[in-house]
Amino acid sequence: MVGRGLWAWKHRFGKRSRRLGLWSFLFLATAALLALLFVDFIESWVTSMAMSTVIDHPPIIPLQSAPPSRPEEFLLMPSPLVCQRAKPYLFTMVTSAPANQRARQAIRDTWGGEVEVRGLRVMTLFMVGVASDPGLAKLLIEEAREHGDLIQGCFLDTYPNLTRKTLSMLGWARRFCPKAHYMAKVDDDVLFNPSALLHFLNKSRNPYEEGDLYLGRVHLHVAPDRDPESKHYLPAGAYPHSVFPDYCSGTTYVLSRSALLKISLAASASPLSTPLPPEDVFVGLCARAAGVLPSHCPLFSGGPGVPYGRCCYQAMVSIHHIPPRDMLLYWADVNSSPPCSWLSVRASLGMCKVRALLGSALGLEQGL
Ligand SMILES: *[C@@H]1O[C@H](CO)[C@@H](O)[C@H](O)[C@H]1NC(C)=O
Ligand SMILES: *[C@@H]1O[C@H](CO)[C@@H](O)[C@H](O)[C@H]1NC(C)=O
Repeated sequence: MVGRGLWAWKHRFGKRSRRLGLWSFLFLATAALLALLFVDFIESWVTSMAMSTVIDHPPIIPLQSAPPSRPEEFLLMPSPLVCQRAKPYLFTMVTSAPANQRARQAIRDTWGGEVEVRGLRVMTLFMVGVASDPGLAKLLIEEAREHGDLIQGCFLDTYPNLTRKTLSMLGWARRFCPKAHYMAKVDDDVLFNPSALLHFLNKSRNPYEEGDLYLGRVHLHVAPDRDPESKHYLPAGAYPHSVFPDYCSGTTYVLSRSALLKISLAASASPLSTPLPPEDVFVGLCARAAGVLPSHCPLFSGGPGVPYGRCCYQAMVSIHHIPPRDMLLYWADVNSSPPCSWLSVRASLGMCKVRALLGSALGLEQGL
């Protein structure tokens, strides 16, 4: 009697719980699919929730009027009229090391060779420092003569001097290219996609808007590195606070005309500590001093590499860790085919984001 009752109970509720299980499976699968398709929106939302949106403490760097940067600060540069002639809407500064000729050539042969994108004028220049090797120094002069796209600042080109490269770049841009609508700063191992950037800006901003924009992959609540052995070591004497203001990853960031002006003025007015903070942190500090907040865009890869996917690469603005040979291959493949459909872009973007995330979680990432 009891056995039969139990059987009937199992029979009735077993069926119901199986149906319940099916429904929850379908629900979870749909949610996962939607999350995959809209992973970039989710990322934007989560990041904006975590970002500080108020300038809470007073500027760390006093904002004073700055002396204009003098042309003799540059050992090599294209004609001072290069921007007045080219009138770029977007100009890109690629920070490069003297020895990276192959990387610069790959950029010229791909995205850096474009002069018009989506009907807007674009221009790409390279920023280098002084080579300690005399042979290399001679090669740089030849390269500058041949291509007319090198700017050389007055500092030794070493890793600890990267922040000086940025200072030089900001000074040059303010003096010689102040009318461009946007400036992008890009590393020489980045596959940059001006078309995707202009599309994103067009979608997200009113074209007549003149506001400040400091756009990239935002790093939140990063603490200074207090390990004297580290290459980013920053003693409390150089930066006393326990966290940096939120800043954009240095692999690629974009400044609007007004943000460039404010940030470069703050940069040239700031007392330079020794050692200087890392390049991207320094720009974040100057932005904070100038009252400019960073904006996050999920289409910038930042540090971690992104596995190749044609539609994903069509949509991404910047992808880091691309050796010159791959840059040529990927660029040719991305541009040889018609634009991907909305759904393929969504699916491909979701897949490559998830793969990049898994890669960095498993420690496959090649470092920042
Ligand atoms: C910006 O968007 C408008 C309307 O959607 C379009 O007509 C225009 O071509 C776009 N411009 C660029 C540069 O994408
Ligand atoms: C940075 O550049 C300056 C100016 O050329 C030079 O004196 C200094 O030694 C460089 N610093 C490093 C760490 O290379």
